[in-house]
Amino acid sequence: VTFTVEDLEGNRQDIEAPDDMGLSLMEVLKASEYPVLATCGGMALCATCHIEVLAGKDSLGEATDVELDQLEALPEFFPTSRLACQIRISEELEGAVIKLRGEDN
Ligand code: FES
Repeated sequence: VTFTVEDLEGNRQDIEAPDDMGLSLMEVLKASEYPVLATCGGMALCATCHIEVLAGKDSLGEATDVELDQLEALPEFFPTSRLACQIRISEELEGAVIKLRGEDN
């Protein structure tokens, strides 16, 4: 699956990731050397994997209550904010555009 990542400087890059390995978006961002701390290891506890979905949000499914609680606790979040660790890499991500948001990451 191929999707686009916009970094904190606004540079965009297409990322290709396997959608049959059960990886999370957070894991793929880290593996692509984006500055995602992911302090909690993907447990929806640290919110350092905060991203904004610029395109393709509807195909990604709903955030869970736990995820929403974390997002709402952030100093700044957006209507299409998500935690990257709570998004599975699947074919639904094809063509999506996501923007890194963790300025404090
Ligand atoms: Fe901690 Fe996603 S890695 S909330």
